[in-house]
Amino acid sequence: MTRSEFQRRFGIVGESLEMQEIVQVLQHVAPTDITVLITGESGVGKEVVAHAIHGASSRSKKAMVTVNCGAIPEGIIESELFGHEKGSFTGASSERKGYFELADGGTIFLDEIGELPLATQVKFLRILENGEFLRVGSSTARKVDVRVIAATNKDLENEVRSGNFRQDLFYRLRSVNVRIPALRERKEDIPLLFAKFVEEFSAKNGIRFGGMTAAAEELLQQYYWHGNVRELRNVVESMLVLERGRSLDAEDIRKYLRMPAEERNLPMLVTKQNDFDERQLLYRALIELKNDMLEVKNLLKGVLGANGAPGLVPAGQSSAVQETLSLTEMERRMIENALKKYHNNRRLAADELQISERTLYRKIKEYGL
Ligand SMILES: Nc1ncnc2c1ncn2[C@@H]1O[C@H](COP(=O)(O)OP(=O)(O)OP(=O)(O)O)[C@@H](O)[C@H]1O
Ligand SMILES: [Mg+2]
Repeated sequence: MTRSEFQRRFGIVGESLEMQEIVQVLQHVAPTDITVLITGESGVGKEVVAHAIHGASSRSKKAMVTVNCGAIPEGIIESELFGHEKGSFTGASSERKGYFELADGGTIFLDEIGELPLATQVKFLRILENGEFLRVGSSTARKVDVRVIAATNKDLENEVRSGNFRQDLFYRLRSVNVRIPALRERKEDIPLLFAKFVEEFSAKNGIRFGGMTAAAEELLQQYYWHGNVRELRNVVESMLVLERGRSLDAEDIRKYLRMPAEERNLPMLVTKQNDFDERQLLYRALIELKNDMLEVKNLLKGVLGANGAPGLVPAGQSSAVQETLSLTEMERRMIENALKKYHNNRRLAADELQISERTLYRKIKEYGL
C-alpha cells in the first residue's frame, strides 16, 4: 500500500514532511506487535493514529478496546483494567473480566496513560513484559495476547522527573514514540484539513461553502490553533452552519478564532475577561497619565512663562510630576473618583471605568476603598 493509500484508508489528512514521516513509521510498526506510544498536544490526532495502527495490523478483525485512564476513579482502575474475582471487594458480587481480557487477541488503547496511578503502572509494566496479570482478588496469573497502544498529551519525561511516572515504564513505552507535532508546526496541513472538513460538513448538512479570500486563508494559516485539528474542525463546522454559503473575508473568520480582542478588531470591551479588563484599565490609566503630564506641562508653562525660563520650577510642581508616574496610584484615584461620582453605585462606576463589576469589586478590596 502506498503512503497516500494508507492515509486515505485511515482518514489521515496531511502532506507536511512531519505527517509524511509519521505515516511511514505507522506503516512500518502497524503490522508488528510492538507497543507504540503516541504523544502530542490535545487535538493533534492521537486517536486517529491509534485507529490506523490497529486497523493496519493483523488484529484489525478483533476489537480495539479504548480506555481513558484519566476518566476512571483511582479506586477501581485496577479492577477495570485487570478484572476481579467474585467477593474480592465489597460490591464484587460476581467475577468480571477487565479491559485487557476483553481485548485479548486484539489491541488495547490506553489513552491518557500519564494519568495511570503509580501502583497500577507496576502491574501494567508486567503485562508489557510478559503478558501476565492478576485479577483483583486472585493470586493466579493469567495471560493475554494484547497489543498495547498508549497515548498522552503530557510530557512523560517531566512526569518521571516529578515522580509521577515510573522511569522503567517510560523507557519501555518510548521505544516506539510517534510524536505528532502541533498544527501550528505544520501549517501546510491547514488548507488540506480545512478542505476535508468543509467537504465533510457540507455533505452532511447540505450546505454549500461560499469560498474565501486570500487574506482569510492567510489568517487560517497564521492562527495559533491552540486546540489543533479538533479546533480547526469545530471552526469549520460553526462557520459553515452560521455563514451559509457566504463568501468569507478574514474579518468573517476572525469571529470564530480565539484571539485577544484588539487583534480581532472588535471593540475592546466585548469580552469581560479579567486580564482584558486589567489591560484596559492600564491603557486608560496611561492615557490619563499622558493627559495629566500635558496638564502639568501647561501649568509649568504658565508658571515659567511662554519662553520657559529654566530653574524656576516651584517645589510643589515637581512632586506632582512624580506622583502621576505611579500607575497604581492613578488607578486607585480613577476608581475612587468614579465611585464618588456615582455615590458608590458600583455598576455605574464600573461602566464609567469600562471594566467589569467583578474587577471593580476586586480592585475596591485591593485598595481598601
Ligand atoms: N491528520 C488528520 N486528518 C484528519 N482528521 C484529523 C487528523 N488529525 C486529527 N483529526 C481530527 O481531529 C479531531 C481530533 O483528533 P483526535 O481525537 O485524534 O485528537 P487527540 O490527539 O486524541 O486529542 P486529545 O488529546 O484531546 O484526546 C478528530 O475529529 C479527528 O478526526
Ligand atoms: Mg484522544
